[in-house]
Amino acid sequence: MANGDLVELQRNSANWAQIVEEIVKLERKIFPKHESLARFFDEELRKKNSGLLYMDVDGEVVGYVMYSWPSSLCASITKLAVKEQWRKQGHGEALLKAAIQKCRTRNVPCISLHVDPLRTPALNLYKKHGFQVDNLIEGYYSSDRNAYRMYLDFDAD
Ligand SMILES: CC(C)(COP(=O)(O)OP(=O)(O)OC[C@H]1O[C@@H](n2cnc3c(N)ncnc32)[C@H](O)[C@@H]1OP(=O)(O)O)[C@@H](O)C(=O)NCCC(=O)NCCS
Repeated sequence: MANGDLVELQRNSANWAQIVEEIVKLERKIFPKHESLARFFDEELRKKNSGLLYMDVDGEVVGYVMYSWPSSLCASITKLAVKEQWRKQGHGEALLKAAIQKCRTRNVPCISLHVDPLRTPALNLYKKHGFQVDNLIEGYYSSDRNAYRMYLDFDAD
């Protein structure tokens, strides 16, 4: 079970810039350029219909999940990552569960996401929490990297 504090990044919080900077650093380290949101993080997060939760262990940001609800049709998990040395300790699962709960409160019927089929840990995690593969989108991330589009349908609960 994950030990740490799940924190919702607040737009007006004094540590906004510091937390975003830490997350951008992680994003650059974990994801290849074509899959990275690093350049857009600050901009994305300032949008009214998006949120970010992070896992704080003794003041260290060890993982984060970003989600949005661009319309009333479906919410979206836009990013999920845990620092390499903190993986396999339940943090990813805790972050995903919390993001699902947050999306539920937006009264949307579903959550969608995209994931590279080669990202087995993420794929397993999403399946474990009820996401189903809807479609393979060839060339989604780059010419040679595809994505599964996955859905979690709340009505199916
Ligand atoms: C995906 C990721 C967030 C999982 O984080 P984590 O903290 O290690 O995950 P957890 O410890 O909470 O594991 C939860 C579940 O994920 C799956 N999982 C995690 N690591 C796995 C691995 N190495 N192999 C297979 N399944 C794995 C399992 O279903 C696991 O449940 P179980 O413990 O009951 O088997 C992490 O591996 C990561 O950051 N990967 C790189 C970034 C990424 O791929 N992000 C998703 C694309 S946006």
